[in-house]
Amino acid sequence: MVAEPIALAADHAGLEMKNALAKDLAAAGFAVLDLGTHSTDSVDYPDFADKLAAVVVSGRVKRGVIVCGTGIGISIAANRHRGIRAALCADATAARLARQHNDANVLALGGRTTGVEVARDCLKAFLGTAFEGGERHTRRVAKLG
Ligand code: RB5
Repeated sequence: MVAEPIALAADHAGLEMKNALAKDLAAAGFAVLDLGTHSTDSVDYPDFADKLAAVVVSGRVKRGVIVCGTGIGISIAANRHRGIRAALCADATAARLARQHNDANVLALGGRTTGVEVARDCLKAFLGTAFEGGERHTRRVAKLG
């Protein structure tokens, strides 16, 4: 069976969390597509949101994870791309509902605001939950464009 690729991208403030989650994903058998950043040098989060959005919109990967200091800037930037539904989550319930109701395809996390164990719980919920579908959720998600 071919391992599902999961893309990750972060700025310098999300580097540590992104690396921790990449390691977990590889250990869990996913193919990790790490789009950087790869050092603590200061970078601009929109550039990494754009890289992540490009691989999701192209269909190369179905799901991705983005991290900046708060998760706010990088999720705003990612959501400017048509077809990206990035959900900024700080608990597993939000991550589960982002999949069930919003069919989120990108999980956004705050590397400076959310603990790594909570982030791990968010990621498990995000990857382990299907879109609920049904007429009302499907209609609403379609309206997102
Ligand atoms: C970088 O210092 C910080 O502003 C960025 O990671 C993020 O939190 C922006 O939303």
